[in-house]
Amino acid sequence: MLQPPPADPGMSVDDIDTPALVLDLDAFHANLDLMANFAARTGVKLRPHAKTHKSPVIAKMQMARGAVGQCVQKVGEAEILAWGGVADILVSNEVVSPRKLARLSALSGIAEVAVCVDAAEGVRRLEAAAESAANRLTALVEVDVGSGRCGVATKSEALALAQMIAASPRLRFGGLQGYHGAAQHQRSPEDRRKSIADATGAVAALVEELRGIGLDCGIVSGAGTGTFELEASSGVYSELQVGSYIFMDADYGRNRPAPPFRQALFVLSSVMSAGRSGAAVIDAGHKAVAVNSGLPLVWNRPGATYVGASDEHGKLVLEPGSEPARLGDRVWLAPGHCDPTVDRHDWYVGVRGTRVECLWPVAARGAMA
Ligand SMILES: Cc1ncc(COP(=O)(O)O)c(C=O)c1O
Repeated sequence: MLQPPPADPGMSVDDIDTPALVLDLDAFHANLDLMANFAARTGVKLRPHAKTHKSPVIAKMQMARGAVGQCVQKVGEAEILAWGGVADILVSNEVVSPRKLARLSALSGIAEVAVCVDAAEGVRRLEAAAESAANRLTALVEVDVGSGRCGVATKSEALALAQMIAASPRLRFGGLQGYHGAAQHQRSPEDRRKSIADATGAVAALVEELRGIGLDCGIVSGAGTGTFELEASSGVYSELQVGSYIFMDADYGRNRPAPPFRQALFVLSSVMSAGRSGAAVIDAGHKAVAVNSGLPLVWNRPGATYVGASDEHGKLVLEPGSEPARLGDRVWLAPGHCDPTVDRHDWYVGVRGTRVECLWPVAARGAMA
């Protein structure tokens, strides 16, 4: 059940109730345009990741700028997007439970659906679910290119799975996924370049071997906000699965150089207790802002640092000489990690300058299955 929105369109930003997930629409549109222009210029396709935004509204804005479809991580996210009119969806993840696979198969009647596999048993399960599908399901072989998460570890496993998919009357071999998550937040450009060079080299060799046995990779998908320029220039990747670029977060801000996007996503909070000098308590703790990739940055208040979170409270330390805190003061936070922060809120409050312009539901909030 959605909570009531913390604002109304047209109201002043000063009147947004807190804590609230606030989107700076000017920065957000600039980020959308920057990535869309990059893709158009380089000729690589954009299939942005909806795990970041969980919103058909935002998906459609990306597609209006040329994105070929969306990635999702979960079947529940795929449902929300497909029901909302997104017609081309890649589940960039393994789905193994029969119940989830049946839900995915049902979506094939209204959307082009592709999903990753990394095991023969995964192919067999997908094939069983595809029996009731309106159309053939597309399967991509996921290759572990350095993250040590999902994906086959060897070329021979990848070849065997691709052949198994291609031999199935109910499945279509779509190509490969090679997402290097660990490289996204490597701080130095040299480290990122080395990681992605290794990844693209391995993927290129596999694409060639598959071609040699008559299997073309229509899709080679991967990349994130930290490395997308490298995959795009590799000549091997056909699609970029970038997610965080639309919002940015404090963790990506620590890459050197930081990705070329503006901070567009904030958690707006208020001072709720200011009894101690040099400190203040705000109404945004773990339940309003994710701290798994570091604490949020205080955006609008020089000398104030977010130093600790409990469930509903955030602690600020105020440098000597900085502005003392008063009850109700508004504190803008740039989250450490955008995706899980979004998942803590029911509404985006879109603001332009000093006005609230729109309210969009985080429609796939909590879609973890
Ligand atoms: C498989 C996959 N693709 C793409 C992304 C998007 O990465 P980013 O949000 O860093 O752009 C992620 C993020 O975790 C992911 O897991």
